[in-house]
Amino acid sequence: MTQQTARLRIRRGTADELRYDEFTVPFDDGASVLDALLWIRTRRDPSLAIRYSCISANVCKECVIAIDGVVDYACTTRLRAGAVMTLEPLPGKPVLRDLVTETRPPRERL
Ligand code: FES
Repeated sequence: MTQQTARLRIRRGTADELRYDEFTVPFDDGASVLDALLWIRTRRDPSLAIRYSCISANVCKECVIAIDGVVDYACTTRLRAGAVMTLEPLPGKPVLRDLVTETRPPRERL
């Protein structure tokens, strides 16, 4: 197994206060974007807000975010070495914080 390095540019903050933070994450072949987000939360920034549940690929659908502008699962998208990967919250949804959006249907929020 070869260890590589990924660079993640992550949108942070709330809708009123947005910024991008960049992190460099070591990973082994086959690691996912969710693996990198968990690594960042554990080792670099415990305040990073993410949503996930199953960690086992496409079961809970909680980890969906925009990855380089394409909506996809963080737990199934593989990290790429070298290039910067941009991670953003789901487009068209209210941002609660960082990569977490309001996904409840409006009627359930009453
Ligand atoms: S963490 Fe459950 S589908 Fe990605």
